[in-house]
Amino acid sequence: MARPVEADVVLACGEHLPAVDVWLVIDVLRATTVITRWFELGGGDLYPVASTREARELARRLSSEEGTPPLLMGEENAIPPEGFDLGNSPLDLSRECVRSHPRAVMSTSNGTVALLSAAATGVPVIAACVRNASAALDHALSIGPRLGLLCAGRRKRPAWDDTLCAGLILNELRESHPEVLLADSARLALLTLQSSQGRLSESMRSADHAVFLERIGYGPDVDFACEQDAASVVPLLHEEPEGNGMRAILHAVPGNTRPRPPRPAPEPEPDDFVQLLQYAQEEGNEAHFFLGKNKRKGQ
Ligand code: MLT
Repeated sequence: MARPVEADVVLACGEHLPAVDVWLVIDVLRATTVITRWFELGGGDLYPVASTREARELARRLSSEEGTPPLLMGEENAIPPEGFDLGNSPLDLSRECVRSHPRAVMSTSNGTVALLSAAATGVPVIAACVRNASAALDHALSIGPRLGLLCAGRRKRPAWDDTLCAGLILNELRESHPEVLLADSARLALLTLQSSQGRLSESMRSADHAVFLERIGYGPDVDFACEQDAASVVPLLHEEPEGNGMRAILHAVPGNTRPRPPRPAPEPEPDDFVQLLQYAQEEGNEAHFFLGKNKRKGQ
């Protein structure tokens, strides 16, 4: 008998990684959105690394191996690190740019680190975001039934934007596989999506990192990151030997391009966390919330 589909969510990079068949790594603002954009535009191999120092070193090695320098891109505190060709705005990428630099090295504060920690578990790793949510999910399901969604988060803590995207992917999964088994953290991600009541961009813009990006002039990146299923490309990570170790490379696999009907906003379920929280707020008494359902019914 086929194993049922299961989904687990790791809400921030640095938490324990459970055993899964495949990882969907999510850093909506902005690393996995930028990675998806790179491949949407026809980009070639993209090397994610954990620090700006490693990025500069790898770019030097690749230049001497291949004769042409790769594009050096990424961010530190959301702005382009010194000496990098590009920052981490998906809107700075263009066809011209990927044509002139067929390979890229990328380092970001959370996203590339999350990709590398997922890769260290030895199972396939996909870079996922709102733009390629359906294609990434379909590809993950073609690999195995135990899905892990690793949210990069922010400074090792959960981030609203990534949790929202995990909820979006899980909502889609629940539509195609109603019998899916969800870990508690996966249910939390679904509740996060439900709380947005169909207004994904609005909810996304309220995330701490979105507010920060807006303040420093990158507000349009957030709107771009919210274009659901605008891309059908799936960035998949593989490793190749380098010296005594291995290096990680992302390449594109074509995604499933079947058109999807617009999805209605998921309705909150009767007993869910959001309603309990609303009840606690209405009552002005947090104790009701912690006491749960029985207390709410006045029993
Ligand atoms: C990260 O890796 O934390 C992000 O991609 C940061 C950003 O783009 O601002």
